[in-house]
Amino acid sequence: MGPELARVRDLTIRRARPSDAAALARVQVDSWRETYRGMLPESHLAALSYAGHERLWRRTLAGPNATFLAVIGGQIVGLASGGRCRSHQAFSGELHLLYVLRSAQGRGAGRALFDAVHYALAVAGLPDLVVWVLAANRPARAFYEHLGLEPVGEGSSLLGGVRLKEVAYGWRG
Ligand SMILES: CC(C)(COP(=O)(O)OP(=O)(O)OC[C@H]1O[C@@H](n2cnc3c(N)ncnc32)[C@H](O)[C@@H]1OP(=O)(O)O)[C@@H](O)C(=O)NCCC(=O)NCCS
Repeated sequence: MGPELARVRDLTIRRARPSDAAALARVQVDSWRETYRGMLPESHLAALSYAGHERLWRRTLAGPNATFLAVIGGQIVGLASGGRCRSHQAFSGELHLLYVLRSAQGRGAGRALFDAVHYALAVAGLPDLVVWVLAANRPARAFYEHLGLEPVGEGSSLLGGVRLKEVAYGWRG
């Protein structure tokens, strides 16, 4: 069996359920700390709370957004969520977030999560999508470019008291 088959066999993507809120919060907070160390103020990363994010996930999971998670070896290792776009007038859908824990990266979870949200949005009548990425997050930008998305705009966000440049990547349906 080649490595490609083994990679696919061990990975499950499924829709998130309300009972996943605590696990989603853990993966999101841990992944933020892994990803944004050196990009966001340390105090902001230290202040992120599992309980606070669990509350946010309970609310999100009760709403209309499409949220999926990735399971490898029985552990939730990644998540992605998307919905109607409110940040770019040329796009109908938006990928709000996509995170895979570092220990599980490079095994197909990121692409599979992207595809799951993309398909769910298309089925919901939102065939094109945009995703905003911190300009300094070079690996994520390279990943979206590898998947075929193109830069379609620039902006900035206030995160942890610091204004940071962002780039929008778009997929036209
Ligand atoms: C970016 C991220 C989602 C990619 O997930 P992943 O599970 O590691 O990626 P996959 O294994 O599914 O890779 C899918 C494809 O993208 C390619 N790829 C993955 N990371 C890449 C990178 N940094 N640059 C270029 N290509 C990349 C893979 O080689 C693979 O190519 P193939 O399918 O053609 O063989 C993941 O690394 C991550 O969560 N990073 C930290 C959080 C983050 O920055 N999220 C985005 C915030 S907007």
